[in-house]
Amino acid sequence: MQASKQHIKISPIKSNSILLSILWTVLLGALLFFNVHETQKTPLQHAEIQAKSLISSAISFRSWATHFGGVYVRPSEKYPANPYLKLPERDITTTKDEKLTLINPAYMMRQVFQDFYGKDGINGHMTSLKLLNPNNKPDTWERKSLIAFERGSKYESTVEQTPDGGKIFRYMQPLYIEEKCLKCHAEQNYKVGDVRGGISTFIDLRKGEEIAAGTIKSLVWTYGLVWLIGLMGIFISFRRSIMLEAEREQKINLLKVSENLAQEFISGMSALSNLEETLNAISTMLEKRDPYTAGHQRRVADLAEKIALKLALPREKAHGIYLASIVHDIGKIQVPAEVLNKPGKLTDLEFSLIKLHPQTGYDILKAISSPWPIPEAVLQHHERLDGTGYPQGLKGEQIIIEARIIAVADVVEAMSSHRPYRPGLGLEAALAEISKVRGTQLDSNAVDACLELFKEGYQFP
Ligand code: HEC
Ligand SMILES: [Fe+2]
Repeated sequence: MQASKQHIKISPIKSNSILLSILWTVLLGALLFFNVHETQKTPLQHAEIQAKSLISSAISFRSWATHFGGVYVRPSEKYPANPYLKLPERDITTTKDEKLTLINPAYMMRQVFQDFYGKDGINGHMTSLKLLNPNNKPDTWERKSLIAFERGSKYESTVEQTPDGGKIFRYMQPLYIEEKCLKCHAEQNYKVGDVRGGISTFIDLRKGEEIAAGTIKSLVWTYGLVWLIGLMGIFISFRRSIMLEAEREQKINLLKVSENLAQEFISGMSALSNLEETLNAISTMLEKRDPYTAGHQRRVADLAEKIALKLALPREKAHGIYLASIVHDIGKIQVPAEVLNKPGKLTDLEFSLIKLHPQTGYDILKAISSPWPIPEAVLQHHERLDGTGYPQGLKGEQIIIEARIIAVADVVEAMSSHRPYRPGLGLEAALAEISKVRGTQLDSNAVDACLELFKEGYQFP
């Protein structure tokens, strides 16, 4: 019961924390995904920049060489005269008898690309659809790009897989015929502005991808760490909330327990069964102090209840009369013991003290709630029909039926049993007495019922 109650109370905190954790995970996951995605694009972006700068520098060097219609150099074994250059002035001799050969721009670039590039995974290649040098022939992709250039494309790019699983970025730009190119390319029927061919570049993506992979790795670690710290924060605040909640729960429970105790006490005081216990206890308390009247109240109670039943009062009402009877003299608790137990005749003062007991009894009993007029019955048990009773001098019907019945039983029991100040007068005398005051002091129906009971053989318990 307690556990399930706690479970229900805590679950909103739990579900909030779970929701927060999910949100946090989704947020970081999305950010990581975005960052990884961006990082994965960087090798290609870098390759493109590299390719463009390679081409622009190649074009610059070419333009420089073209400006001079090629440049003369001393041929060597490694760089001999270009067999594909068909100009008559290709090979010359200086005045100092030195041999020089003309290097056309394409030849220069080819040598540079072949001998100085390639090691860093970067290289270039000059090619054309109409070749002077068959070794410059385009590969499949270059051919497609050259055709695209003739249709007006400004550049072409692609990523190719290498047989060993690597990736190569390829980028190509067209080369156009200028005035100076015609010196050597006029024979091929080119006009200024025609696409002569193109420079294509190869950038190995492996290096960039390695760098990106490193970056992604550190991103994953960083995000993972931040994610864990966030989750820990959420967990800690979850624990705190649960502890606070449990503390609150405990306080509430404590309050409830103390409230219950008070409630139990109050309801116990007024509960029917406890009422009887209370009244019994009160009755016993008086009899402990006043041994001469010990049992008086219980005997009166028994007789009064029987009289009530004889008068055909409801069982409930009769029980109320019984309960009132067992405490009807409780007010004597205020009368000093010497007076109560005094043998012989009482003084006027002592008797006036005794006469206070109905009121005192009423004052004590009115604090106890019950469905019966117990305090009133106790207050009025010494009232008499003709108004000669005490404490209020009530008459006839002003006296409640409970008190009228108790009065009869009280007189009979008191007269027939022994008292400190006189010996018992006997049942006969008692019954004679009530018959005498029937209708004047005591209720005639109650007296009749009482006489009837004794005629039937009633005996005090
Ligand atoms: C000095 C002569 C000369 C000049 C000037 C010259 N070229 Fe060439 N070009 C050649 C020769 C010779 C070849 C072929 C042999 C080689 O690979 O060197 C060639 C090759 C090429 C190629 C490679 C394709 C092929 O046919 O083998 C292209 C592209 C090219 N030239 C473009 C140009 C452009 C564009 C210009 C002007 C900006 C130009 N050339 C200026 C002599 C020249
Ligand atoms: Fe009394």
